[in-house]
This record gives sequence, C-alpha cells and structure tokens, in this order.
Amino acid sequence: MTPMKAVRIHAYGGPELLHYEDVPRPWLKPDDLLIQVAAAAVNPVDWKIREGYLQGFLNHRLPLILGWDVAGTVVEVGPEATGFQVGDAVYARPDIERNGSYAEFIAVKASEAALKPATLDFVHAAAVPLAALTAWQSLVDAAQLQAGQTVLIHAAAGGVGSFAVQLAKARGARVIATASAVNTGLAAELGADQFIDYTRTRFEDVAKDVDVVLDTIGGDTQERSWQVLKPGGILVSVISPPPEATAAAHGVRSAFVFIQPSGSQLTQIAQMIDQGQMKPVIHAVLPLSEARQAQVISQGGHARGKIVLRVGD
Ligand SMILES: NC(=O)c1ccc[n+]([C@@H]2O[C@H](COP(=O)([O-])OP(=O)(O)OC[C@H]3O[C@@H](n4cnc5c(N)ncnc54)[C@H](OP(=O)(O)O)[C@@H]3O)[C@@H](O)[C@H]2O)c1
Repeated sequence: MTPMKAVRIHAYGGPELLHYEDVPRPWLKPDDLLIQVAAAAVNPVDWKIREGYLQGFLNHRLPLILGWDVAGTVVEVGPEATGFQVGDAVYARPDIERNGSYAEFIAVKASEAALKPATLDFVHAAAVPLAALTAWQSLVDAAQLQAGQTVLIHAAAGGVGSFAVQLAKARGARVIATASAVNTGLAAELGADQFIDYTRTRFEDVAKDVDVVLDTIGGDTQERSWQVLKPGGILVSVISPPPEATAAAHGVRSAFVFIQPSGSQLTQIAQMIDQGQMKPVIHAVLPLSEARQAQVISQGGHARGKIVLRVGD
C-alpha cells in the first residue's frame, strides 16, 4: 500500500508521544471522499485525546492519527458518495472516532464535507470547521439565539469563542466577551459590544440579565455563570453537562453540546464567510512535522484563534 506521512500516537501521554512517520494511506468506505490534505487545524480535543482523557467516551484504537479539522482537495470519490467530484476544494470536521487529519490524506464521509469558502486559502479554511460548527451548534441549534438578545461568550479570543462572537453579531445579538486584556482589540474587531478582562474583573459583577451564556471554560466559570442569566435564559456548555437541578434552581435552562459533523452547516458557514460575516483568526501556522509544538501551544490555553498545520507544499 502507498505510504503517506502522518502524525500518530501509539500510546496515551505527553506531546513526545506524537510521531511523524510513514503510515498506510486510508482506505475508503463507499460513501467516503479521499481528501489530499493541504492544512489541518489543531484543537484542544486533540491533546485531550492524546493524553487519554477521552478514553471510554470515544472508541479509539491505537495507533491513531490525530486532528479533526481539514481543508484540501478531493482526489477520489467513493461509489456511494454524492455531491463532490475529484478536484473539489473542500473542508470538513471529520468523524472523531476515525483517523484524523494530521496526515497527507484522510477519508471523510461526503456528508461531513462542504466546498471550502471561496475567499479563504486552505490554511484559513482548515481553521474553520470544528470551532465554527461548535459555535453554530451551541448558539443556533441549542440556544436558538435571537436578534436583540444578550449573549455572554467566555474565551472570546479562542477558537470557538472567536467564531461565536462573530456568529452572534451576525444574528443581531448583543455580545459580552471575556478574555485577558491583551485580547481587547481582537474582541472589538470581532464585534463584541462589551469586554470583560477576566483576570481583573469577576464577570458576574458586570454581566447582568443575559439570555445566553456560552461556557467554553467549565468548572468555577460555569458555576459563576448561572447568576448572570435572566429567568428563562440558557447556559450552553461545551465542557461539561451543566447540572439540571442547578438550572432549575435558577429558573433557567441548560444544554451540553458535543459537536457533530455537518456538511450542510459548513455550507452555510462558508456562505457567511464569503459574505464577510465571519473570518478565522490564526494564531500560528506550523508544518505537519511540528505537530508536537502545535499541541504544546494549544495545551497552554492561551492561543489567540487557531493553530494550523500546513501539509505538503
Ligand atoms: N464539546 C465540544 O463539542 C467542544 C468543541 C470545541 C471545543 N470544545 C472545548 O472548548 C474549550 C475551548 O475550545 P477552543 O478551541 O476555543 O480553545 P482555545 O482556542 O485553546 O482557547 C484559548 C483561549 O481561551 C482563553 N481563556 C483561557 N482561560 C480563560 C478564562 N478563564 N476566561 C476567558 N477566556 C479564557 C484564552 O484567552 P486569554 O489568552 O486572553 O486568556 C485563549 O484565547 C476547550 O476545552 C475545548 O476542548 C468542546
């Protein structure tokens, strides 16, 4: 079988366990596309899986290729895959239970892919799917955010938060954003109406009568978020399921979102990007062979937008 370069783990643990090596090219299921990867973005879930934190929740077998954000070119179309042809420039957040995108090629279900935004190159397109879909499924699907509502977005300078701020503004909401002071300018550029430096100010002292909280931090941040909601408001967490009893005690609702792949939502996101309503923020671009360094940056917890691995030339 023709080999390809990929970054895999053979055991769970630290970043030193990421190996840039020759591996077999993926085989296609009938409804798959084979994508020649041009760029793959790094997400916190990558290092969480590498550390072994999601064992029991996800059924991975080792060795495993990490990375679940991809932009590239379709080079083969499975016999039952529809909607795409060889040569299409696509992007996707592939099935997290399968081998990922830190590789020269990836097999992706056609229903998980979409044509990439025409206005973005591959590096910027790869930075979109996982984070933008998470923002979409949290704010549009779970919270059903409406024009005129107020939303508090935690970690507005992060991958998910940077898309969430832009998406909320595009839907006509008022956005309160948290981040450290260094990211004030970024939050304003993305459209935030109010900025809270979480290192100096307790957000619950400032944010009041909020319709929607997007919790991207968990723990103490989630616990302190209940009190900022107005009656009937909703706390959406992408970190841990908020206790229903606590929601009921505050007279509010709660939801936990674990992102699902969706080619159709990526098509809508691509339209918004091409219309200038959203854009990815890029923290750093590294070659695939430096995936270890990319994950160390991600694990540090202060990336400003997305870290992207460039694959091939
Ligand atoms: N359930 C799901 O489907 C799902 C999907 C995507 C992501 N997630 C999870 O959601 C979390 C966020 O993901 P991400 O990709 O956005 O992460 P990220 O890009 O690594 O987030 C980094 C950002 O977090 C900010 N930050 C750190 N501590 C903060 C705090 N206490 N308050 C406010 N901002 C803070 C940092 O801003 P400063 O540098 O200014 O501090 C930095 O810009 C991760 O834990 C990820 O695993 C879950």
